[in-house]
Amino acid sequence: MSMRFGHQRSCSSRNAALLAGMMAFAMAHPAAGADKPKLPEGPGKATTVKVCGICHAPEIVMSRRESLDGWNAVVADMIERGAKATDDEFGEVVDYLAANFPNTAPAGKINVNQASAKELAVGLGISEKQSSAIVQYRESKGKFKSIEDLLRVPEIDSASIAAKKDRLEF
Ligand code: HEC
Repeated sequence: MSMRFGHQRSCSSRNAALLAGMMAFAMAHPAAGADKPKLPEGPGKATTVKVCGICHAPEIVMSRRESLDGWNAVVADMIERGAKATDDEFGEVVDYLAANFPNTAPAGKINVNQASAKELAVGLGISEKQSSAIVQYRESKGKFKSIEDLLRVPEIDSASIAAKKDRLEF
C-alpha cells in the first residue's frame, strides 16, 4: 500500500516538475507555437478544417493560390483521393479557399507563336479579325521572333499591340 502511495507520489511530483518546466518554457517563450501557420478566419473555415484536415494538415492549402476554378479542381482531385462531405460543404470549402487564397497574379503571358486566334483576341483584347490575321501570318511566314515581326502583320493595330508588349512571349 505504502509502495503504491510512494510510487504515485513520486510520479505526480515528477509531473509537477514537468508541468512547472513547461510553464517556465511557455512564460519564457510567449510566442511558442505562434509561428505555426494558421488558417485565416472567415466563413467556411470550420468546414474546411473538418473536411480537409482528415488526411493532412488543412494548412496545406496555404501555399497555393488558385482561381475559383482552380480550387474547384483541387477539391475535385481530393474527392478522387477520398475526401468525403456533402455538396454544400464542398461548396463552402471552395468559396473559403477562393476568398482567402485567390490567384491574384497578373494575367499570364501570351505566346504569340502558340496561342489560337481566340486566345490572342481574349488575352490581348484585340478583335477576332486582328487575331486571325496574326495566326494567318504566322502560318504562312513562320514564327514571330520579336514584336517587330508581329507589327508587320497587315491590319494590326500597332499602338494597341505595342502597349501590351510586356505580356507577349515569342
Ligand atoms: C482522403 C484524404 C484526403 C482528404 C480528405 C483531403 N486530401 Fe488533400 N491530399 C491528399 C493526398 C493523399 C495528397 C497528396 C499527398 C500530400 O501532399 O500529402 C493531398 C494533397 C493536397 C494538396 C497539395 C497537392 C498539390 O498538388 O499541391 C492540397 C492543396 C490539398 N491536398 C488540398 C485539400 C483540400 C482543400 C481538401 C479538402 C477539400 C483536402 N485536400 C482533403 C488526401 C486528402
